[in-house]
Amino acid sequence: MKKFALLLAMFVVAFGMVAQAGQQIIVGTNAEFMPFEFTDDDNNIIGFDIDIIKAVAKEEGLSVRMHNQSFDTLIEGLETGKIDAAISGMTITEARKEKVDFSEPYYNAAQVIVVRDGTEGFTKIEDIVGKKIGVQLGTTGALMAEEVMGEDNSDLKQLRKYNMVFTDLKNGRTEAVVVDKPVAEAYLKQVDGLKISSPPMSEEQYGIVIKKGNKELLDKMNSGLAKIRANGEYDRIVEKWF
Ligand code: ARG
Repeated sequence: MKKFALLLAMFVVAFGMVAQAGQQIIVGTNAEFMPFEFTDDDNNIIGFDIDIIKAVAKEEGLSVRMHNQSFDTLIEGLETGKIDAAISGMTITEARKEKVDFSEPYYNAAQVIVVRDGTEGFTKIEDIVGKKIGVQLGTTGALMAEEVMGEDNSDLKQLRKYNMVFTDLKNGRTEAVVVDKPVAEAYLKQVDGLKISSPPMSEEQYGIVIKKGNKELLDKMNSGLAKIRANGEYDRIVEKWF
């Protein structure tokens, strides 16, 4: 009888621990989009988006494991179930909504053009036509550039890594980059010799991305976002990164 009571006690403790840790969700990101997601010197994935998803998950009793991957594979990763969610500065668009679900918007952004100091012009998107341009593959910036330059234009360099997009610009391999404004601003703080040459050219909103039809997780993301906006945690995270 004593043995049984002990066993029972052990089960209760074990289940308690599982319940406390909560369900773990695997969250995809492309950690080269400062200040939203990037890696520190020890290769930890950090940034605004990471703090947001962790705060949201905490409110909803979930734990998070981040998965770093290239931006253009995030939607596919959700479709195949390799990841449960993605947070990656991803703009809510009609085309993407056909494949995945988005939470309520959690941040506003816009595309801008970045050039080297001393470069004239590039004040509007049409100015990139006929020039060598850099963008990140699969982004709204890439789409915007394609719209004026045409698809498969060899002047449009579409790279997987943002760092390389900016390195090309610095080294003169490209004339300009089309990128999200908050990322351009963060990058300009780190490197000399570049400037933003255009006003904001689009109105975009970032959302947390969920596998299409996973209403349970989508509801949790939205309720978590509402809670962190209400309890001041969202503002603290904005304060920390911007
Ligand atoms: N906002 C843009 C988009 O949705 C760029 C996002 C890129 N994000 C990243 N983590 N590399 O297409």
